[in-house]
Amino acid sequence: MSVGVAVVGLGFGEAFLPIYQRHPDVGHITIVDADPARLAEVGDRHRVTDRATDLDAVLNDPRVDAVHLLTPVAFHARQSIAALTAGRHCACAVPMAMSLEDLGAVRAAAHASGRVYMMMETSVYAREYHAVERLHRSGELGAVTFYRGFHIQNLDGFAAYWRGYPPMAYVTHALSPILALLDTTVTSVHCLGSGRLTGDREGSFGNPYPLEAGLFRLRGSDAVAEVTMAFHQTARAYTEGFCVYGDRTGIEWPSVEGGPLTRFDMTAPGPGQRGNPVERTVFEPADHGHLLPREIAGFAAHRDAHGGSHPHLVHEFVRSIVEGRPSRIDADTAAAWTAPGIVAHEAAMRGGVTLDVPDYRR
Ligand SMILES: NC(=O)c1ccc[n+]([C@@H]2O[C@H](COP(=O)([O-])OP(=O)(O)OC[C@H]3O[C@@H](n4cnc5c(N)ncnc54)[C@H](O)[C@@H]3O)[C@@H](O)[C@H]2O)c1
Repeated sequence: MSVGVAVVGLGFGEAFLPIYQRHPDVGHITIVDADPARLAEVGDRHRVTDRATDLDAVLNDPRVDAVHLLTPVAFHARQSIAALTAGRHCACAVPMAMSLEDLGAVRAAAHASGRVYMMMETSVYAREYHAVERLHRSGELGAVTFYRGFHIQNLDGFAAYWRGYPPMAYVTHALSPILALLDTTVTSVHCLGSGRLTGDREGSFGNPYPLEAGLFRLRGSDAVAEVTMAFHQTARAYTEGFCVYGDRTGIEWPSVEGGPLTRFDMTAPGPGQRGNPVERTVFEPADHGHLLPREIAGFAAHRDAHGGSHPHLVHEFVRSIVEGRPSRIDADTAAAWTAPGIVAHEAAMRGGVTLDVPDYRR
């Protein structure tokens, strides 16, 4: 089977084009962008001749089996529903949607269509997550005691739609790793907003907070996940990652993005000694391109591609279509990874209460 793919939104989306072009199971490629100048420029650069400025124009094209949406967040829900309703498989950049109602609507459209839906969460396909997952599966980490996720990125100068964006509504990069690692979901969240957006940074969301900090309770686990999300007024370099602490081994993300991680191995004190000895070593996660077809394996080595995740995401989306199975981040999983942030923001807006998160398991 050869899958025809439309890549929609050619900012971040351009990075995925060459991967689809080389994937052995992908045939026809169409590109879509509302900006004709960008469409022409990206199309010429990657020699893609089939182009459109409107998603609807390609949804009835029999050569398009699947769409990958990389449009601004506000379009994700309605474009996902349009694609699924038109019988197309649908991959979508994070987040799945911005409200619980829209999460439910995309999920319902995915269930009704019987087509593949996948939320393209980069963090759980990055080399760092892959290495930590191996430590967890082998038992080296031990029982997980605590997780700390963070995404701090100052967005002054970004497209206007990011102004005042509720930080927790974009929680997936910072939270998904622990949900994937423990194969669990969030039951409740306690969240506070921190700081106050300056007038020029207030957007249309009614959100007053540059930063939000939440504590997430996990179903079937005694560990708690603490997540910090900030999009404005937080003076540090961009960081998007996590630390996880087991009762044997802990892994910490570097303070400056791109550096090596740190591994802590803890043992019991010797007879008569106080405190646990901890050995600290550099932890360099290896690329996992060997899991990919050789045509796209090289993309996993890219340093600036969210931990080399892009080809793994494409491969999982395409293979789930070819194999006729749900994707790893299907609509239920995507809703379960996105909703905790939407609820967390609501908790912050209510002055820091604890709120339950809907259960999307079936
Ligand atoms: N690590 C990650 O997973 C990650 C990283 C970056 C961006 N993203 C997500 O990817 C998406 C795109 O991000 P970006 O930085 O490229 O955004 P952007 O706003 O810079 O670019 C979006 C592109 O989509 C086009 N577009 C806008 N509306 C459209 C429409 N209705 N139909 C077709 N095309 C349309 C624009 O012309 C533009 O070329 C966002 O949802 C963002 O949250 C995810």
